[in-house]
Amino acid sequence: MSAPNKSYDPVEVEALKPEEIARVRDEALAAIAAAADLDALREVKAAHAGDRSPLALANREIGALPPHAKADAGKRVGQARGQVNQALKARQEALEAERDARVLVEEAVDVSLPYDRRPAGARHPITTLSERIEDIFVAMGYEVAEGPEVEAEWFNFDALNFPPDHPAREMQDTFFVQGPRGADSGVVLRTHTSPVQVRSMIDREPPIYVICPGRTFRTDELDATHTPVFSQVELLAIDEGLTMADLKGTLDHMVRALFGEGMSTRLRPAFFPFTEPSAEMDMLCFACRGASVGNPDNPCRTCSSEGWIELGGCGMVNPRVLTACGVDPERYSGFAFGFGIERMLMFRHNVADMRDMVEGDVRFTRPFGMEI
Ligand code: FA5
Repeated sequence: MSAPNKSYDPVEVEALKPEEIARVRDEALAAIAAAADLDALREVKAAHAGDRSPLALANREIGALPPHAKADAGKRVGQARGQVNQALKARQEALEAERDARVLVEEAVDVSLPYDRRPAGARHPITTLSERIEDIFVAMGYEVAEGPEVEAEWFNFDALNFPPDHPAREMQDTFFVQGPRGADSGVVLRTHTSPVQVRSMIDREPPIYVICPGRTFRTDELDATHTPVFSQVELLAIDEGLTMADLKGTLDHMVRALFGEGMSTRLRPAFFPFTEPSAEMDMLCFACRGASVGNPDNPCRTCSSEGWIELGGCGMVNPRVLTACGVDPERYSGFAFGFGIERMLMFRHNVADMRDMVEGDVRFTRPFGMEI
């Protein structure tokens, strides 16, 4: 084993020369002072205080020095490294303080600013469509009439020529609130808006022109095309000399007002106890206007290429109903029709599933906006 190199002069080792140590230290201090942000400082730290920095490399040289020279060189390098580390720490603190101050300004939230406590919603499209239909008839001189949703069975059925135990009552699955008591009528959630016809005739003297919008109830399961709570619009006209031609003209006017010029309706024979004759009313498909019928190259999804869309029921008010409501059937005649708003909304606005209308999700109603 060779003896320690007693003649080794640390001053001769380039990296340990006092002026070289001072130079790399000053270079490090200048770089630290120049670091503009914390990212730049991280790079300066790696370059001037990391394992491969000039001062770290100089430190490694000390181990090879003779004992008497180690202390001197160690002190010089140690002091330089201490100064660099102190400068790094001070710059780090200064830059962090600067960053925090900037973030406070840039990300400041003025909690005193007014904000939208109630984000703009939308009116429910059932309401807006129902009001639009009412407007068409109000413009023609009709009056809007309303009635209770919890209705006496007499108004909902008996006065409308549904005799007790008549199978026609089965047509509309009824929520019974209270069964009949003695001579008193039972109580139901109205299954249609037709009881408002009855109330209107009892309350008014002919001529009567009313439109009755409202909520109706049936024990149907909620699915894509049914809901147990739905909306109908009913129309009733009582006057001298009214005929099916007046009914047809009124329906045609309504579909033109709702769907545009060129629209029309057709009537198909049907049965309702409260109208005679009765009809199902269809309207021309507003999407294809009949062009898809027998034309497989041009199918229509709105009407399934049938050319017509079923709208609801209608007919001439049954004289028995007129009599039950105190209207002289010898002198007056009348027509009525009724249809579901949800179904109309479905095909008018391409709504695929009726459940969307009742679930209350604003993402459904918002696109309809605030139309009045
Ligand atoms: C009636 O309710 C008759 N009162 C209509 C009427 C009035 C006929 C005046 C003649 C004169 P109907 O049971 O077909 O008819 O119902 C009318 C409309 O209500 C249907 O065409 C449909 O659009 C809607 N409807 C019925 N049940 C539901 C339901 N569960 N969900 C949504 N819409 C429904």
